[in-house]
Amino acid sequence: MGSTRMRSWALSVILVFAGAGAASAQDAANGEKVFAQCRACHQIGESAKNAVGPHLNGLFGRKAGTVEGYSYSAANKNSGITWDEATFTDYIKDPKAKIPGTKMVYAGLKDEQRIKDLIAFLKQFDTSGKKAGS
Ligand code: HEC
Repeated sequence: MGSTRMRSWALSVILVFAGAGAASAQDAANGEKVFAQCRACHQIGESAKNAVGPHLNGLFGRKAGTVEGYSYSAANKNSGITWDEATFTDYIKDPKAKIPGTKMVYAGLKDEQRIKDLIAFLKQFDTSGKKAGS
């Protein structure tokens, strides 16, 4: 990594922390907007089916590569990952770095707040795609 890139990376980390505070709560409504980037390939909710990518119902707590009927790459299936906030955050920042050889074509989401919001949105859906509390 070049020093200029390193500096701008460090700066963005500082900005993220500076922006934390009042607005740092996870916001599922904002997360739904972020999920627009995933919708081309992933479905979620009660009628969700596997598409280009596996459905994302009940994602947190499930092992990578375990949605029935979806044909994963060996890389994803054998990654040994269990999806939780930490592994998901790592993954979504740079999928190909976390799972080399994955067939998910997505450059990555770098913004910490948007990742948090996305997690809040995804977490609402249990394994049957029902929203908690509805
Ligand atoms: C261009 C299509 C595409 C986009 C856009 C995309 N994905 Fe994926 N995703 C895939 C594919 C294909 C896989 C299966 C990867 C494999 O088997 O290697 C996958 C796998 C995953 C997995 C692993 C699931 C499991 O059961 O192990 C997660 C989590 C995930 N995607 C989340 C997301 C999120 C969140 C977004 C939006 C920020 C997103 N993806 C955007 C195609 C996509």
